[in-house]
Amino acid sequence: MDKLLIEGGYALNGEAAISGAKNAALPLLCAALLTREPVTFHNVPALNDIATMLKLLAQMGVKVEQDGERVTLQADALDNPVATYEMVKTMRASILVLGPLVARFGDAKVSLPGGCAIGARPVDQHIKGLQAMGAEVTVEHGYVHAKVPKLKGARLFTDMVTVTGTENLMMAACLADGDTVIENAAREPEVVDLANCLVAMGAQISGAGTDVIRIRGVTSLHGATHSIMPDRIETGTYLCAAAATGGNIRLTRTSTSYLDVVIDKLLDAGCDVMQERDAIRLKAPAKLKAVSIRTAPYPAFPTDMQAQFMAINAVAEGTAVIRETIFENRFMHAVELTRLGAKIAIDGNTAIVTGNGPLQGATVMATDLRASASLVIAGLVAQGETLIERIYHLDRGYEKLEQKLNALGARVKRVN
Ligand code: UD1
Repeated sequence: MDKLLIEGGYALNGEAAISGAKNAALPLLCAALLTREPVTFHNVPALNDIATMLKLLAQMGVKVEQDGERVTLQADALDNPVATYEMVKTMRASILVLGPLVARFGDAKVSLPGGCAIGARPVDQHIKGLQAMGAEVTVEHGYVHAKVPKLKGARLFTDMVTVTGTENLMMAACLADGDTVIENAAREPEVVDLANCLVAMGAQISGAGTDVIRIRGVTSLHGATHSIMPDRIETGTYLCAAAATGGNIRLTRTSTSYLDVVIDKLLDAGCDVMQERDAIRLKAPAKLKAVSIRTAPYPAFPTDMQAQFMAINAVAEGTAVIRETIFENRFMHAVELTRLGAKIAIDGNTAIVTGNGPLQGATVMATDLRASASLVIAGLVAQGETLIERIYHLDRGYEKLEQKLNALGARVKRVN
């Protein structure tokens, strides 16, 4: 299994290009199931999660044509509308095929995702929404089986804000009979990117980006070409890495537009952040100040940036309070960070991080995607060598991580 060996102590300096957003690309690829015509995507990141999604779609009978960052999908005929346990267990986002399959073919079988490292993460809201639209849903032998001659528009209200839940139901509603209203909808920019593509495919959607999305069902959708938005979490991760190492970087092919809270916190930490056209510059201060955060649905602070801020607080001056309100078990990086010398106390969903000067390199284990990113940031700052095990988590969500970091002056090597 691959590991990442980091020689810490080098400030990040220079320029790196940000890739397309993983969390936008995954639902977008599933949207191609809604039409028999080809849909072409640009700026598709080269990530393991994307490869998994393309494999899943191909297994169902979707024609997949990939050329670098361009992917064309055509779902003219599907012979196998099933997402098996083998696929879903490696990537929960596979559940995103459920809505489009039921809407277009009236029948879908998707394995229930199990628990994952960061929490139980049920899909009850996805199911409840489809049932409200008339689908008959059974859960048997670990599979969600949804059937309906034709979905009907409905008023949907989710118990909590769910990103993939909103995306699944929005896609399903595009081909339903009549009008659907999704209340308490997720406002994440990735939901808006998906809505923009669906509209380009002929869907009638308004309100994406607010907590009430209205969809007027149409009889069919057509092909389209869509360029995937930049990855705001990858952007934030590199900004944190530069902040932690005392660096000065410029990130291109991205924007601060979806990172308001994250940028605010980096400013509070003492960084200089400048927005250019399609680029961001960050210059770190001589010493970072601790910044407290509380995660919550967009536009509040993203849970996917929580671990990275724990790492920067570990080397900042002062004490920070970190509250995680989205997932119940998302502090696993804390134990690993303490192996590098960080001072972190956990009480339920709250972590108290006391800046503790220089960290020391050690062997640590990646436990989930963003937890791994926080270990990379800590390893870049730590004195000596840090060996990160189980980096397949990083390969799920960070394109060319070591190449991009090394181009910025880091010393990072993939070892086996
Ligand atoms: C998405 C993102 C993930 C991010 C998360 C929160 C993708 C592919 N993944 O995950 O990176 O960390 O949003 O911003 O976009 N819940 C239920 N029942 C449901 C659905 C959700 O109880 O049916 C709960 C979850 O357990 C969690 C909360 O709602 O506590 C939010 O989860 P959700 O927004 O659905 O996360 P994902 O869409 O899986």
